[in-house]
Amino acid sequence: MSQTAPYRVRPAGPFDAAGIAQTYVRSWRQSYRGIIADRVLDGMDERRIALGWRQTLTSPKPGQHTLVAGRAGSPGSVVGFLSCGPAEQAADGLAEIFTLYLLRQQQGLGLGRRLVAAAAESLLADGQARAIVWVLFDNPARGFYEALGGQLGRQRTYQMGSAKLPAVSYQWPDLYRLEERAAGLSAIALGSALPPLLDAAGGG
Ligand SMILES: CC(C)(COP(=O)(O)OP(=O)(O)OC[C@H]1O[C@@H](n2cnc3c(N)ncnc32)[C@H](O)[C@@H]1OP(=O)(O)O)[C@@H](O)C(=O)NCCC(=O)NCCS
Repeated sequence: MSQTAPYRVRPAGPFDAAGIAQTYVRSWRQSYRGIIADRVLDGMDERRIALGWRQTLTSPKPGQHTLVAGRAGSPGSVVGFLSCGPAEQAADGLAEIFTLYLLRQQQGLGLGRRLVAAAAESLLADGQARAIVWVLFDNPARGFYEALGGQLGRQRTYQMGSAKLPAVSYQWPDLYRLEERAAGLSAIALGSALPPLLDAAGGG
């Protein structure tokens, strides 16, 4: 049985701006303490970040998608979110996952997978073919992208306050593969699902 049953993933609207900003700031402080300077983390201005998200969600750039995970039956609840769209240094057909953050309490429940699967579906519908994500080198979340079959790619640095932080990219040359992996439809999973389906079809 799915452990994520109490949560649902849906497209975000402008009314989600405050919830997204709160999740963003809390998840940064929970995830990046010891990686990013305390001064940067403690100085995050949730209200200003919410205004930025309201703008983004009111007038999204072409091809940009924001998805939220929230408690089922609680409109406006946000425990995690993902944003994606055409890659910043847009090469044809290359999509980027710009942000993906869950509150610590809701990590490890499969919601990251569900957000990525929904994002990949939207990007494929837009005609995107490949995907990339950038992750801080020291972020343990790299393991998540590796679990989804991401291939280690280029490196760069981000300026955070006075520090230069190394980051790496993970890439998926085939967005369909990412959707399958995120949705749990690996070849092995499909293989194990096939016999009962064939049985059912043959038994009629
Ligand atoms: C990274 C993150 C989005 C993953 O979402 P999640 O809901 O916790 O992950 P899921 O439960 O969907 O896990 C999916 C798979 O990835 C694996 N996985 C998840 N996080 C992992 C990690 N840090 N290291 C190794 N594997 C990991 C899981 O074991 C699972 O594998 P399985 O399905 O084969 O058992 C979430 O943990 C998070 O928000 N982390 C903090 C913020 C962050 O660093 N975001 C990324 C910024 S680039």
